[in-house]
Amino acid sequence: MERVIKVGLLGLGTVGSGVLRILEINNKEVTRRAGAGIEIKKILVRDPGKKRSVQVDPKLLTTDPWEIIRDPEIEVIIELIGGTKEAHLYVEEALKNEKYVITANKDLMALAGAELLLLAGQKGRNIYYEASVGGGIPLIRPLKHSLGANKITRLMGIINGTTNYILTRMSLDKADFAAALKEAQEKGFAEQDPSSDLDGKDAAYKLCILAGLAFNSRVRYENVYVEGIRGINLRDIFYAGELGFTLKLLAIGEEINGGIALRVHPTLIPSTHPLAGVLDENNALYLVGNAVGEVMFYGPGAGSMPTGSSVVADLIDVIRNINHQVENGIMETDFLEKRIIPIEMLSSAFYLRLEAVDQPGVFAGLANAFADEAVSLDRIIQKRSVQGKAEIVLITHVVEERSFNRALEKIKAFPAIERINSLFRVVES
Ligand code: NAP
Ligand code: HSE
Repeated sequence: MERVIKVGLLGLGTVGSGVLRILEINNKEVTRRAGAGIEIKKILVRDPGKKRSVQVDPKLLTTDPWEIIRDPEIEVIIELIGGTKEAHLYVEEALKNEKYVITANKDLMALAGAELLLLAGQKGRNIYYEASVGGGIPLIRPLKHSLGANKITRLMGIINGTTNYILTRMSLDKADFAAALKEAQEKGFAEQDPSSDLDGKDAAYKLCILAGLAFNSRVRYENVYVEGIRGINLRDIFYAGELGFTLKLLAIGEEINGGIALRVHPTLIPSTHPLAGVLDENNALYLVGNAVGEVMFYGPGAGSMPTGSSVVADLIDVIRNINHQVENGIMETDFLEKRIIPIEMLSSAFYLRLEAVDQPGVFAGLANAFADEAVSLDRIIQKRSVQGKAEIVLITHVVEERSFNRALEKIKAFPAIERINSLFRVVES
């Protein structure tokens, strides 16, 4: 193999280390598939003295991004530093310098992907971002290529490994939220700022990327309704289980009459649903296409080697394109502007847990408030009564969000209702 492609690596943390390890252990397979040798010429880090989980020649490390990005010998930049400020600056400059770019950065692709892809196209280059969603699961390529014949109407996914890890540990081991988060951080799944995971932002960024490709539409982060998993109580996980449901943080995208609805929120799904069996840091994406029917992708959604696997696959693709003198590769083009359907216009079933004074007429009052807004109840259970306080758990039938919210306001105003403890949407299929 005569040709050697020189690569600049920005970042040597969880994912960067996985990339180096894969290039080492699978070097023969990777270079044969790519059709060229691969040399990591320089690596950007913040702290060159830091102890690393991979062995690396200290001479490769630099704290100067421009030494890499402006090196005329380097043809490919792999951005794995995360965040949006520096990452945006470096990716933009790399494209201006006619480098191919690979990134695992969903924040960047969700917030600035459209503009950066445009620049890449103008420069005869491309951005590869398979690792930005679903860690090691192939999702971007299937949406861009393999499912291209379909009109996709719905996608529903567990696309954040950290929150799925926390919910799994809470549900299976009754683990405490903070302890489960600490484990996810130690395993390298969580973002530098874990609030991005916990508040649903990471999943919302990923939903923007997936929905943009699935619905061939320009999707903006501010168009996604987002709720995270903070404050989730073991009680709800337990009661949901008793009622035959599992609590998951779901990202849901739907195309309805030409408009699109995008949301991320904790959701009760039937424990028999395939997404309910997705445990730990695993991710899954279920989608419906009008030709293919229902499809589900499943696998490790975070972590060093799985995410490194997607990055290295992108590198093989880039090198094949360089070898075959395909400048851009296959670009996503022609994103349409589609109407955004706000969450209030959607319909859902709801789970509600509340605390009331244990006295006659409370159930009747709840039933009347719901009936006034045409909200029909599927199940209502009084869980316990301690010191005159009753805990009530109920699930409604599918109803418009607006009607449910109106009923909830009436319920909150009842003197006998002491507290609304939790509220989740329920997806039956
Ligand atoms: P990480 O472990 O925190 O590693 C970040 C690396 O970038 C570190 O080597 C750090 O240097 C370097 N770095 C950060 N900011 C820098 C700056 N301004 N200048 C120079 N170097 C800088 O992060 P990660 O988990 O590998 O994640 C990297 C990217 O992949 C993120 O966009 C993340 O969202 C995405 N991602 C992560 C996973 C996962 O499972 N972790 C999965 C999919 C996608 P030092 O080592 O010297 O501190
Ligand atoms: N923090 C992210 C997660 C990493 O937990 O899913 C993978 O994108």
